[in-house]
Amino acid sequence: MKRFRRLRQNELMRNLVRETRLSVKDFIYPIFVVEGEDKKIPIDSMPNVFQYSIDRLDEVLEIAVQRKIAGILIFGVPNHKDEFGSSAYDNNGITQRAIRFIKKNYPSLLVIADVCLCEYTSHGHCGVVRDGKILNDETLSLLQKMAVSLAESGADIIAPSDMMDGRVESIRQALDKTGFTDTPIMAYSAKFASAYYSPFREAAGSAPCFGDRKTYQMDVSNGREALREIADDIDEGADMVMVKPALAFLDVIKEARQNFSVPLVAYNVSGEYSMVKAAASLGYIDEKKIVFENLVAIKRAGADIIITYHALDVAKWIEEE
Ligand code: PBG
Ligand code: ZN
Repeated sequence: MKRFRRLRQNELMRNLVRETRLSVKDFIYPIFVVEGEDKKIPIDSMPNVFQYSIDRLDEVLEIAVQRKIAGILIFGVPNHKDEFGSSAYDNNGITQRAIRFIKKNYPSLLVIADVCLCEYTSHGHCGVVRDGKILNDETLSLLQKMAVSLAESGADIIAPSDMMDGRVESIRQALDKTGFTDTPIMAYSAKFASAYYSPFREAAGSAPCFGDRKTYQMDVSNGREALREIADDIDEGADMVMVKPALAFLDVIKEARQNFSVPLVAYNVSGEYSMVKAAASLGYIDEKKIVFENLVAIKRAGADIIITYHALDVAKWIEEE
């Protein structure tokens, strides 16, 4: 008889042989920034997540620094939206101002800037729209402008989430040409057209006003195609690649880990967060235990870095252990 239980007999023994450990350094926390003053607006579908105006960011940034997480992912929510998302590449836009504020006051935090037009366009799509179609090549130059503008504002990492073809190469070229040769690209490479994003769209005000994102984001049924997307982004110059969402795509994370050696990021998205919060608030599950189990699964599957709305809570729980 094999006695597997020998190594499970008490917490000391289990701790010794534990294969996967979460570290505060694994985590990136997304933050939503709105225009205006003295604003801390709750997101109904995401308990304990808020939209902050720049003058109220200190309270969340101080916690992020104190808990020693790796960094934050910044999403701007502009007042002005138009067909071409011009606030996205306005050097005085909300995202640019927020990044300048954070880099000036919180130099110990890595600031990752999401690059996509959907928060900034009047139609809510991630690219230029003509005759009801989302145009690929016409979108690339706008993404280039946005990436350069965010890098100029001080972003440490540029993270394109739009899913246009060729955007990593275009953005890399634009960054290099403007002197940002050292700014890494974290590509949302295998980003699926998922129903798990709906709470985010409330938080970022980015729901498409017609149709859906299925002509540019990936079909949730496709695992092999995800590997092709990742391979292509690495070819185009991505320094890190991402799988998103995380929990329903652990197979993709695992295969990405086995096939590629670049740092691998998993985005534990808004809907995944909201489901845990909703069930926990009803007393159906133990929030802390479920969150640990979910995040350790993402890491065990092969993710090096986890973007999660649970980041600040988990960092506290790890510290308390
Ligand atoms: C923007 C973007 C989205 C998310 C990150 N960047 C939403 C979308 O594609 O509609 C989703 C994040 C989340 O659900 O937490 N393109
Ligand atoms: Zn988008």
